[in-house]
Amino acid sequence: MNSDSDLQIAGDILEVPHLLQAPREHPSTVAEFVGLARSLAADRSQWEHLVQYDATTRWYHRLRTGPGYEVWLLSWVPGQGSGPHDHGPSSGVLTVLEGTLTEHTERGTRALRPGDERVFAPGYTHDVVNDALEPAVSLHVYFPGLTEMPMVPRSHLRAAAAPAACEARPVTA
Ligand SMILES: [Fe+2]
Repeated sequence: MNSDSDLQIAGDILEVPHLLQAPREHPSTVAEFVGLARSLAADRSQWEHLVQYDATTRWYHRLRTGPGYEVWLLSWVPGQGSGPHDHGPSSGVLTVLEGTLTEHTERGTRALRPGDERVFAPGYTHDVVNDALEPAVSLHVYFPGLTEMPMVPRSHLRAAAAPAACEARPVTA
């Protein structure tokens, strides 16, 4: 059997484009969702003109949707916060685009600055607030899309109440 025979069996892949794997149009893994968040964060033309500060409420804009995920842009004036909440069945990636946000979790409190990322699984509970003097902008990817954001008692953010599933890890940009 020579190589011509193999070619006859398999066909010439350049002549059968349907056998070529198309580049994936949408992210579907945690790493790909992080990659999506990073690429959007890096491209200010995707979101800068959509930032809107509203003194009466945090301002939300759904930046993008795809199969099994949503991307939200949030604008925060000083003093605005989410309150303690979880994300129902959704996992998520949170990154700060401008300003500084403070995240309170069962593990403590940390400042999130531009380029900082949080990746979290279902069950993750936190309270995010802009307690700085400048407005802030953040990008949130939820997979699956956020269907509920139940508020939880502030006591859930205390160390003793931390369920093991609420694992999150900072990712250095
Ligand atoms: Fe959240």
